Amino acid sequence: MKIDILTLFPKMFEGFLTESIIKRAINDGLVEINIIDFRKYSPFKHHQVDDTPYGGGAGMVLMCEPVVRAIEDVKTPDSLVILTCPQGQTYQEKTAQTLKNYHHLIIVCGHYEGYDERIREFVDLELSIGDYILTGGEIPAMAITDSVVRLIEGVITKESYEEDSFTNNLLDYPTYTKPASFRGMDVPEVLLSGNHQKIKEYRIQEQIKRTKERRPDLMEEQNENKEN
Ligand SMILES: C[S@@+](CC[C@H](N)C(=O)[O-])C[C@H]1O[C@@H](n2cnc3c(N)ncnc32)[C@H](O)[C@@H]1O
Repeated sequence: MKIDILTLFPKMFEGFLTESIIKRAINDGLVEINIIDFRKYSPFKHHQVDDTPYGGGAGMVLMCEPVVRAIEDVKTPDSLVILTCPQGQTYQEKTAQTLKNYHHLIIVCGHYEGYDERIREFVDLELSIGDYILTGGEIPAMAITDSVVRLIEGVITKESYEEDSFTNNLLDYPTYTKPASFRGMDVPEVLLSGNHQKIKEYRIQEQIKRTKERRPDLMEEQNENKEN
């Protein structure tokens, strides 16, 4: 898979690409991630990329020309162009599961007040990572990239993500490590029993219990899906 991220702030991605699982996935050739500064696509003097909004108002607006030129330069018939946008569809684990099937993702990071409305005509999907406003699309681009890359075969083991929260509309079960007793709090007996069948049953029960307590909406969604 290839992911091209179009941004005005490439340095924000330095730590993201050079640590932990993402770094390993890149080094193992499982994903190629390119950070592209769309300032270099500006046809204007001093590489200008933004201007004041028509009609007045606060902040600067990203111009069409640099953003659209950058998209067109990296786009192929296989590409899916994503715009990070607080007004877009809310990003979920199931979105990540769909995105991992694409060969090429292009993620556009907005900044400042936003972008010229006409840029929307050049994207396939608008994604929001939640109902709050960030200063730019770089953190959403990292969130999307991270959640997709970990699902690519070979990046982490399948078992690691199959029981994760939101896969199968359930939350994950509680986990413990040594010591078996910490300040009077004991690890549930069954996890020390060595009985794999019993451990499996306990974990499934815990997943259902947690989901009912914390996110009953996920279970309702699953029931609706079954009925349809
Ligand atoms: C300050 S925001 C612009 C917000 C815009 N004026 C609005 O109210 O819809 C600048 C950029 O950050 C990114 N951004 C901010 N919050 C986001 C969110 N929750 N999800 C995805 N992208 C976001 C988008 O790329 C956006 O264009």
